[in-house]
Amino acid sequence: MTLETPTANSFSLPFGEQRNGPLYGKDILSVHQFSREDLTHIYTVAHEMRGMVARIGTFDLLKGKILANLFYEPSTRTSASFTAAMERLGGSVIPINNVQYSSVSKGESLPDTVRTLECYADVIVLRHPEVGSCALAAQYASKPVINAGDGIGEHPTQALLDLFTIFEELGTSDGLSVTMLGDLWNGRTVHSLARLLALFNVKLNYVSPDVLKMPDEIVAELNGKGISQQAFTELDPILPETDVLYVTRIQKERFESQEAYDAVKDLYVITPDTMKQAKEKMIVMHPLPRVGEISMEVDADPRAAYFRQMEYGLYTRMALLAMVLGKA
Ligand code: CP
Repeated sequence: MTLETPTANSFSLPFGEQRNGPLYGKDILSVHQFSREDLTHIYTVAHEMRGMVARIGTFDLLKGKILANLFYEPSTRTSASFTAAMERLGGSVIPINNVQYSSVSKGESLPDTVRTLECYADVIVLRHPEVGSCALAAQYASKPVINAGDGIGEHPTQALLDLFTIFEELGTSDGLSVTMLGDLWNGRTVHSLARLLALFNVKLNYVSPDVLKMPDEIVAELNGKGISQQAFTELDPILPETDVLYVTRIQKERFESQEAYDAVKDLYVITPDTMKQAKEKMIVMHPLPRVGEISMEVDADPRAAYFRQMEYGLYTRMALLAMVLGKA
């Protein structure tokens, strides 16, 4: 993507009232809602945001706007990056990261909680353990709801930032061989990313134990779109041709017993030896947190993109907030 980097003087040019933009006033619930054209728009704005943060840090595009950050599950990156995104854009945040200290602990329903928060905020970011909870919240809220992860369902803003990472690091996603490794059953990030990548000419490889394989409904959906998909239980056969290695954590909190988790928890660990078999230009991504599936010795390898990936998340979420609120 070739773009002019904005300067403080060109501030009024790329950003302004855009009430006819593709995301203005919309919920962000699933990657299914995005077309390639939408992605071009989002990444053009995200790239502009990257330049603006580098040049002037914080600016007043969303001055006076308020975000309600409502998290029923733990989060470091998603919660902090939405907060940072809103504050970099001059807006402010109502943080509800510990719902046990809110009226949720008194039994307040999700519909009532979002209808409360929209009295105070212009946009609601929601993470919840139940699949479909964000769609439910959006039915009741008149302000935009952004899905920050609904159980093992979707994590659309993570997929958007993952794809932005691929574009910024490799220049394209067309023609790439993308290998997803780890807990593909419970990993909402890989569910969303696989669906988003299906908009492009990619080859998807899934590496997992059989009990944690990519759900059949997603494989069938992508087959219907003509996407080449292969499943493996070992990384070795597919690593040499891989352009993007997307590693995920085995999600202990989603297992029914400690024994079931112990049986699969240490199956895959990326080490400097693994990296010797990989392409010189491959990138390693991970939504994080990691709990041992990528050795810390890999961090110094320039192909380790997972820390840069978090930073791309800030720019992507700045773009989404600005677009949803009609300012980009
Ligand atoms: N990637 C991600 O969703 O991280 P958090 O759980 O820390 O938000």
